[in-house]
Order: sequence, then structure tokens, then C-alpha cells
Amino acid sequence: MRLFRQLTPRVKLVRHYASFPEIKPCLEYTSITHPDTPAPQATLDLIRSHSQYQLNTYIRPPILFTRGSKCNLYDSVSREYLDFSAGIAVTALGHSDPGVTAVIVDQASKLSHLSNVYWNEWAGALAKSIVDLTTLHGGLGLKSIETTSSTNQDAEPKVGAQVFFSNTGTEANEGALKFARKYGKQIGGETKTGIVCFSNAFHGRTMGAISCTPNPKYQKPFEPLIPGVRVGEYNDMDEERMKVLIDDSVCGVIVEPIQGEGGVGTGKVEWLEMLGKRCRQVGAVLIYDEIQCGLFRTGEMWAHSSYPEDAQPDIITMAKPLANGFPIGAILVRSNIAESITTGSHGTTFGGQPLATRIGHYVLSRLSDPSFITSINTTAQHLDDHLSRLPRLFPHLVSEIRGRGLIRGIAFKDEKMPGEVVRMARERGVLFLTAGKDTVRLVPALIVSEEECDRAIGVLESCLALLSEKQ
Ligand SMILES: Cc1ncc(COP(=O)(O)O)c(C=O)c1O
Repeated sequence: MRLFRQLTPRVKLVRHYASFPEIKPCLEYTSITHPDTPAPQATLDLIRSHSQYQLNTYIRPPILFTRGSKCNLYDSVSREYLDFSAGIAVTALGHSDPGVTAVIVDQASKLSHLSNVYWNEWAGALAKSIVDLTTLHGGLGLKSIETTSSTNQDAEPKVGAQVFFSNTGTEANEGALKFARKYGKQIGGETKTGIVCFSNAFHGRTMGAISCTPNPKYQKPFEPLIPGVRVGEYNDMDEERMKVLIDDSVCGVIVEPIQGEGGVGTGKVEWLEMLGKRCRQVGAVLIYDEIQCGLFRTGEMWAHSSYPEDAQPDIITMAKPLANGFPIGAILVRSNIAESITTGSHGTTFGGQPLATRIGHYVLSRLSDPSFITSINTTAQHLDDHLSRLPRLFPHLVSEIRGRGLIRGIAFKDEKMPGEVVRMARERGVLFLTAGKDTVRLVPALIVSEEECDRAIGVLESCLALLSEKQ
């Protein structure tokens, strides 16, 4: 017994799993290689100084990242971390991508910012890419909309959707909610203003978006919220309840097809179809917030790209990876709704500026390259093979694996587990995120390799093996 206690955690675990039948967890990464503490004195001094001047709205470990390359981040003492968080599903092409850098340098040396009082070369080009690619890949029901129906050869071809550019995700949602209200009033009069959102949603931190984010932690301190918002149960298939929830007074329904912050819950296709049908019955605008799950993260352009027609939305909001970390958001609106958004209906100082939209145009061209999409799907399948082992290896810890493609969640039975797993993995050089109350979230750059997936899951398995031994 005394001898057993003196063994290293790894040796103990190897002995323990030796008796396991066919599958064993990876035990290569049980030792701490990247301790959070003690942090270098210079880092501690910087943190102490900076926290006097910054609002302390975040809890952060004492690590200072100073550079990144591809899927790696490097701290102030050059420790390398494998980043499976990608700035929260943002840096799809990885850190410091040379192509993105070249575009930034070129455009910044020509024209960075121009107000929306004038036309620029790139906003329209990016809007066209978003509409054309959505038509090609599916989404917003555009595949089923006639895009060139005119018989008059000289007339401009009819386009099925238009884009408004913002700077962030929350602003894109804010704009979408405004558009739903304006359209609603136009078709249903002054009282058609209700908005519906769902449990575990996260739509952002501005007043409209936070009102559709039914989490007391985010909402309570900022009440009163905007009026007229109702909350339904995500994936609730009860038709009667849906009828009551979405009645004639509702102008807009906002939902994430795959939830990000809320715990990587996936909307059932049949439920989204029901939702779409009900929205069309009462003339409510269906808004899909694909800010986290969209733009090829699932291996398709949109999480809903291949969903049936009834499950197609009227508006899509996007942001995070669109310019690989340069701030940008966008609202893609079907033409029938877009017609009600007239001059002066909405505006922004920065949204649609040439620098952000040129980067977005370039990033989208890379993300939509067919060979890139194939590689995302191959890697995602490889990751899936690993992830599917976890509930079998650790049945007492892991309850289920959620998500699709490269937006994945590992749900735990004990809500204390996700934070602990993220910390342990970080101290072994891999960065994950938590999501919701019970989930560890994996949203790596879309360039992530199979070998990097092997290492990330290896670290995860070693951490879970250590944790299960403690239990
Ligand atoms: C689904 C979803 N919607 C909206 C937002 C808000 O985006 P932003 O932080 O850019 O305002 C986020 C951010 O995490 C998100 O995941």
C-alpha cells in the first residue's frame, strides 16, 4: 500500500488501466508541463499594473501570450500552447496567417477606413461572396429561391439576399432584431413586436441581444431588459406549446442551430422545421445566429446548409471567423425582408469599412476552397473517432459528446468538472474552453491537423484519467 502511494500518478494509472479490456486512455500527459504558477515576475508586474487601468470583467490565469502561429500560442517565456479555443471560434485560419497579414498590410497602406457616406471597393465584393457562396452551399433557403428569374435581358439579375456589415456578433444580432421589428410592423401593424428566444441561448451583451440570452448571470444586473421577449425550451417538440409561444404578435424568432456558449447543444432538424413552419404561419422572421457555428465550422458553410426547406431561416447573423480576428459582423437578409429596410433604417460608423471587408473577402475565399472544406471534414471525422471513446473510457465522468464538425462539446455529469479539466489541460499545454454549466468546448482553428487533435485528446484523456482516479 505504502509502495503504491509512492508511485507517480502515471505509473499508478498504467497499472490501473492494465486490467482494462480493449480500450485504454492515453496516459502520456499526466505530468504538469506548463504550470500556471509561479508566473514570471515580469508577467505578474504587468498584470498588477494593467489591472489598475482595465475593468476587471474577466478571470484570467497569470499567463501573457505574446505571439501565435497556426494553432500555437506562445507566452512571454516562450512556452508553446496548443490552442483549441481559437480566440473563441475566431481564428479559423490560425494565428498570424501570412496571407491574412499580407492583405492587411496591402489594404492598410491604401485605404483602411471610409465612412458609409461613400462607396468602397470591398464591402459590396464581400456581400456578393456571402450571397453567392450561400446560394452555392445552401443556407437561407437561397438554393430554392429563383435568382435570375427576369426575362428582360437588360435588367439586373434578381439577387435573393442582401448584407449589412457590423463590427461584432452582438451588433449583428441587434440589427437582425431591429429588422424583424421593422418588417413585423410593416406586415402586422404596431403590435407585432414580440421576440422569441430559447433556453441556453447566447446572443451577445448589448441590450437587445442580452434580452434574448436567458441566463440570470448575464441579465439580472442589467434589468430592465427590452420588453416583449419570450423564452421557449430549446428542442421542445410540443406543437401546442410552440403555437402559444409563437403567436401573431411575434415578429422575430432568434436561435442558434448549434449553441456555442450555452453548452454546444444541437438543434434537432425536425424542431427547426417546426419552428420554420410556425414562423411562416404567423409571419415571424426566423433569425439563425450562426456567429459561432457558421462559416464552415461544422464542415458546411452554415450549420443549416443541408437542412430541409422548412428549416431555412430568413436572416443569418455571422461574425467571429469572418475576418480571422479582425472585428467584423454581418447580417444576411432575404430580399423580401430586406425590402423593408430602407435608407436611414440602420447605420454604423465602422461597419463595412474597406479594411475589414477586404480581409473578410480574402478569408472567405480561403475557407470556401473545396480542398479546404474536404480537409476540415477529414480532420473532424478523425476528432470524432477520438471523442466517441470518451464516454466509454470514463462512463462515470462523461455524459455525452455534443456538436458537429469542429464545434464539439464534452458534457460532464459533475458541473465542477469542466473548469477543472480546462485548467488541468492548460497546465499540460493545451487550451480548451468551458461552455454552459457542464461542458468542455473544443473550437480549434479549422486548419488544425490530425496530429494536433491526437495531442489535444491525449491530454484530455490523461487529465480525465487523473480525475477519475481521484474520485
Ligand atoms: C452564438 C453567438 N452569438 C453572439 C455572440 C456575440 O458576439 P460578440 O462577442 O462578437 O459580440 C457570440 C459570442 O460568443 C456567440 O457565440
